[in-house]
Amino acid sequence: MRLAVNIDHVATLRQARKASEPEPVLAALLAEQAGANGIVCHIRGDRRHIQERDLQLLRQVIKTKLNVEMAATPEMLAIARKIKPDMVSLVPESPNEVTTQGGLDVLSQKKHLMDFLPKLKKTGIRVSIFVDAEEKQIAACREVGADLVEINTGKYAEASLEKEKEKHLQKIKSAAAYARNLGLEVHAGHGLDYHNVQPIVEIKEISELSIGFAIIARAVMVGLPQAVKEMVTLLEKE
Ligand code: PXP
Repeated sequence: MRLAVNIDHVATLRQARKASEPEPVLAALLAEQAGANGIVCHIRGDRRHIQERDLQLLRQVIKTKLNVEMAATPEMLAIARKIKPDMVSLVPESPNEVTTQGGLDVLSQKKHLMDFLPKLKKTGIRVSIFVDAEEKQIAACREVGADLVEINTGKYAEASLEKEKEKHLQKIKSAAAYARNLGLEVHAGHGLDYHNVQPIVEIKEISELSIGFAIIARAVMVGLPQAVKEMVTLLEKE
């Protein structure tokens, strides 16, 4: 199972003081050296963490794969065309949320996305859609031309009762199998940490996990290389 490390919260810390440190680009390089298979960051409309300058530098220096999360807006399309990341992940975005709330409602935006995705793909960028574990939404991702889906593990991660956690895990498993059958590559992420990741690692249809907060939070205590290595080790236990 591949690990893509989301470095947004290195930039969150920097922006808290509008300072020049900590440097997310250095974090990306350290994460790669520690075994990450890709780097993810989310450029938000409000620029609360990652800035365009970060994307420009990341594009130049990272050696694995750059995945930029963004909303499907004209502003973001222009940024993607300029930066040319390896991959774009389309996510819903609302100004007051603390973090991404749920997957993109692809069904209700089919027409817009059918117009938006070809414009992105024309530049050679692979397009992923962050989506809830629902067959109807996954089928719509395929219809609008997504290359892959990232299944939202947020509800699984948040569930405190064992029974509820198991229910969400089963939904993720069947959604992953459904997406693979449609020919989509399957990734997953949101809310995954050192304690809850194992059952997701065992889902064979999922080839990559996108993990941010838990790794950066642990990095504050043990250092980023150590935090990334520990997660890589967990992902090797398929
Ligand atoms: N995947 C998507 C689409 C996200 O928006 C985020 C959060 O930025 C993540 C994965 C990573 O979530 P977390 O920071 O909880 O690991």
